[in-house]
Amino acid sequence: MNKEDNELKKNLAQIERLVSDEDEELESELKSTLRPKTFSEYIGQETLKEKMLISIEAAKKRNGTIDHILLYGSPGLGKTTLAGVIANEMGVNIKITSGPVLERSGDLAAILTSLEEQDILFIDEIHRLNTSVEEILYPAMEDQELDIIIGKGPSARSIRIELPNFTLIGATTRAGLLSSPLRDRFGVTHRMEYYTNEEIKTIILHGAKILGVKIEEDGAEILASRSRGTPRIANKLLKRVRDYCETRGNGVIDKETSINALGLLGIDERGLDDLDRSIITSIIDNYGGGPVGIGTLSLLLGEDKRTLEEVYEPFLVKIGYLKRTNRGRVVTEKAYRHFKRGYYGNLLCDLD
Ligand SMILES: Nc1ncnc2c1ncn2[C@@H]1O[C@H](COP(=O)(O)OP(=O)(O)O)[C@@H](O)[C@H]1O
Ligand SMILES: [Mg+2]
Repeated sequence: MNKEDNELKKNLAQIERLVSDEDEELESELKSTLRPKTFSEYIGQETLKEKMLISIEAAKKRNGTIDHILLYGSPGLGKTTLAGVIANEMGVNIKITSGPVLERSGDLAAILTSLEEQDILFIDEIHRLNTSVEEILYPAMEDQELDIIIGKGPSARSIRIELPNFTLIGATTRAGLLSSPLRDRFGVTHRMEYYTNEEIKTIILHGAKILGVKIEEDGAEILASRSRGTPRIANKLLKRVRDYCETRGNGVIDKETSINALGLLGIDERGLDDLDRSIITSIIDNYGGGPVGIGTLSLLLGEDKRTLEEVYEPFLVKIGYLKRTNRGRVVTEKAYRHFKRGYYGNLLCDLD
């Protein structure tokens, strides 16, 4: 690698981690240029779209609201986007907040009382709500009522406030992390799937048009096959490769420039980045392929346990490189082959 390449690599590395969720500020969440605003722009997730279109139409007919919706799935699969699309198609306002931001019950009460009839409240990372905040949510979701306690000690009294009809859309990386009373209060629970390469390619071609970038079919195919079935990653790769093309190439994203640019970013043919590779190879090198506990793995890699579990592992499990077993994580034969290592076999029962 020459000096220029090194520079470029450094610049690219400064850009947020590929799969990180802290993409944009919450405020500007729905303002990104690449974010679809209507169902016709929202690619893939066909069954979910169909379901939503029917409930929206029904709600409009009776001039009511749609059921509370829980969306779960890996970061970047389009949960926030979908909430925005639904609000847009319903023609109502959307308020966006997140579990960790709502520290006290008063924070949620303030938002709830500011809602208007039919509005949508979007709570991201809803599995991270405090119990006291969560308890406010139950009567609000069920009976459009808010019970708040005013004052302290013997003079404390509880007052009940009527709320407008609203729809709560909750998003989480794993539905299993939600308490069951909260989960039960959603009328619709939907798991977001990874997108097919074909769908991701469509998203990339569409994104290139919006960004005014010239891209060839085979370039888009390379990007799609390395985007981990995830629209957010596809858009990020598109922007990075565009930057590369502008400085290095002839301004057109073709097969060759895509391969070169992604190589510089350290992304392999499967879309795996440095951390993905460390996860697999450190289990192979230090634990003979596993099983190894997630706590140990997190210490070994110096990565947050939750990030590993919610952001990195799901894709490795999906492509069949990693198994979560009752004794810990185990690397599969397929992964050994990908990393060109000798495999001696692992016989353990599967939890997924
Ligand atoms: N179905 C889709 N069609 C086109 N682009 C999408 C789709 N879903 C997501 N995106 C793109 O991916 C980005 C990340 O999606 P987002 O809704 O923020 O994911 P999540 O909330 O699940 O983490 C969006 O900014 C948008 O540009
Ligand atoms: Mg989101």
